[in-house]
Amino acid sequence: MSDSEKPMTIMISKDGPYLISGGIPLSLETIGTNAQGESWEWEPGKTFEVKDRYALCRCGESSTKPYCDGTHKAIGFDGTETATRASYADQAETIEGPVLSLDDAQALCAFARFCDGHGSVWSLVEKTNEAEAKTLTIHEATRCPSGRLVLHENASGKAIEPALEKSIAITEDPEQKCSGPLWVKGGILVESQDGGRYEVRNRVTLCRCGASSNKPFCDGSHASALFQDGL
Ligand code: FES
Repeated sequence: MSDSEKPMTIMISKDGPYLISGGIPLSLETIGTNAQGESWEWEPGKTFEVKDRYALCRCGESSTKPYCDGTHKAIGFDGTETATRASYADQAETIEGPVLSLDDAQALCAFARFCDGHGSVWSLVEKTNEAEAKTLTIHEATRCPSGRLVLHENASGKAIEPALEKSIAITEDPEQKCSGPLWVKGGILVESQDGGRYEVRNRVTLCRCGASSNKPFCDGSHASALFQDGL
């Protein structure tokens, strides 16, 4: 099997980078805001050359971001994975609205703030019997990059998920004047450095600033750290 035929996988190396295999497409995406300065739409940016294998910086200190340049060794990066391996379903709480219900696993928050507009998605979901509130609820929850927020239709139990191609986005957050996590889309396997596997999900955000307390996942610390990737 050639490299390009191997399944797309992100392997976490011990105190080192994310080892990407299977030719996963890589591009830049920016959080676009509305007139009120609220996160509103993802804006696609440049794409990077697709390579079968590459290593993405996880410590936040590489001088060749988004790629690893080996700096993690020089700085003694502690990349210990502290996140639970519990499934999303076991972590999430459910807020039941009249038409849609919102699952929320708070520990996965990547502080992208798409949930904050128009009085917040937690209030909106309780009014999903109103057409406008339902539309806004879907708009906000489905743009959450980490998949902290997942909507379900009450009648069918079906999850409302955005259609995402398997890919990785390098995220930028100009409103907060910082760079954000790796947005892993479309259900790509993330393998722990101990060989274990995290639940494969449509939306996942991985820390690339080195500051998360919930590694490998982003916990929003890049914003307070004012992480800059220089891209
Ligand atoms: S990139 Fe978000 S906490 Fe590191």
